[in-house]
Amino acid sequence: MTTSDFDQLIDRQQYPTQKWNPQDLQAHFGREDVLPFWIADMDFSAPPAVVEKLLARARQGVYGYEYRPESFYDAVIDWYTQRHRWTIERTHIEPCPGVLSAVAILINQHTEEGDGIIVQPPVFFEFRLVIRKNGRKLVKNPLRLADGRYEIDFDDLEAKAADPRNKILILCNPHNPIGRVWTRDELANIDEICRRHNVRIISDEIHGDIVYPPHRYVPFASLSEAAAQNAFICLSPAKTFNLTGMIDGMVVIANEDDRQRYDHFADRFQINRNNVFAMAAIETAYREAAPWLDDLLAYLWQNIAYVREFLEVNLPQVKLIEPEGTYLIWVDFTKLGLDAGDLALFLAQEARLALNSGFWFGREGAGFMRMNIACPRSVLEEAMLRLKKAAGTL
Ligand SMILES: Cc1ncc(COP(=O)(O)O)c(C=O)c1O
Repeated sequence: MTTSDFDQLIDRQQYPTQKWNPQDLQAHFGREDVLPFWIADMDFSAPPAVVEKLLARARQGVYGYEYRPESFYDAVIDWYTQRHRWTIERTHIEPCPGVLSAVAILINQHTEEGDGIIVQPPVFFEFRLVIRKNGRKLVKNPLRLADGRYEIDFDDLEAKAADPRNKILILCNPHNPIGRVWTRDELANIDEICRRHNVRIISDEIHGDIVYPPHRYVPFASLSEAAAQNAFICLSPAKTFNLTGMIDGMVVIANEDDRQRYDHFADRFQINRNNVFAMAAIETAYREAAPWLDDLLAYLWQNIAYVREFLEVNLPQVKLIEPEGTYLIWVDFTKLGLDAGDLALFLAQEARLALNSGFWFGREGAGFMRMNIACPRSVLEEAMLRLKKAAGTL
């Protein structure tokens, strides 16, 4: 696929697509005619090699029970070795239906009701929901915004980790929604603090492949054997290759006792089943779609550059927080002087754009918006024009 294919407009409303669902848009944004930039999937086709593989798999016609072949695991291991310099042990990879399922299972296995789980807001709101739905206590280690860049408040993390009621840190590496790609030093600090206080780490690395140079995704477990033993690494090809609807992911568990517990749970609740299409798609993606991903990253980076420049020229009071990774950009609207509720109304009703309000990610995000830029440039251009026109009415 050439870069220009990302320009193609694909009608997603012919299928029940959450991001474009008029009822969902009405419910969340108060109108159906908003242009959607909220849910974190891409409006692009999956890599052509994956589409071809799925067509061939469908054509064979038999969709019976399948096992996960060694070639599947080899494809995953080769990907992480070659792309991210992390060699995963084959036996450490456990399947899961998705990253959030893994997070929920791990929370249940390694904490009791009422235990504290540390998160770093503004952060992916589903962490909060999964903690609450499972009767655990949300403990915040808010990120700090310093000179336009978010950083971890390590003193506060130390204090939270030192409280024996707090048992787990959910790390988002790279971080949705603020786009930081944590450095080796930052991760090493987190590791050191958490191990010293017996806090386990669930590292959600679903966005690990979407990183812009010169930044590099550092897999948490690649820090050291001790770090790997204390952590659960949630991986998935879903964001990378736009396979979020395949419902398949992985959790890498280096600690043998933990792995046995996970295995037992997977067996008990029968979550260790295999979807023939997901397996075909994922193996093919990891084997054949690296060039496609490189093209995608170049296109996404141009989308970001387009938004950055448009805002600088046309709406200098609205600022982009420089993303290091993910296709979700974090935009600072605080200078507009609207409170969080009015800002949400302004974007939905005046600009007719469906962006995630920053406060969805914790009150620390108020005044900011998250925008998914994984769409054809022309759609982004339309969004910026709508924004500019609406801003003229303020
Ligand atoms: C940080 C993060 N984790 C997990 C998920 C969801 O993963 P899954 O669909 O595999 O449960 C998302 C989706 O937006 C995400 O951004």
